[in-house]
Amino acid sequence: PGPSVYEAEDATITAGLVESNHAGFTGRGFVNYDNAVGSAVEWTVNAATAGPADVVLRYANGTTANRPMNIALNGTVVSSGLTFPGTGNWDTWQTKTVRVNLVAGSNKIKATATTSDGGPNMDKLTVG
Ligand code: GCU
Repeated sequence: PGPSVYEAEDATITAGLVESNHAGFTGRGFVNYDNAVGSAVEWTVNAATAGPADVVLRYANGTTANRPMNIALNGTVVSSGLTFPGTGNWDTWQTKTVRVNLVAGSNKIKATATTSDGGPNMDKLTVG
């Protein structure tokens, strides 16, 4: 099977808004994280079998400042302060990849901003 795509706008959003005012997103839009520590997007990802998987986060950051986030799998931070550097402008999207050990069935993957700038704009998460 091909990769599974999980749009950020369909995920559980803590302190953020679904917007579509910058080009290049997939689906209906992207999540604009509030500019605050703790703003977050949590996806529910299904895995047919347990094991390692590459999780790809597609984002834009139109500033020149990194917008680090903690990436948690099923409640445990697996990547602390993962960097989301500037992408040049808000219409330019790049990816960051994290390898995680999924359990079979339902998994929660949460990306939480760790600075008062909040997270970058988040388009989607792709697994596999
Ligand atoms: C701008 C931009 C937003 C972005 C925000 C930010 O307002 O238009 O899409 O989310 O900056 O700094 O987070």
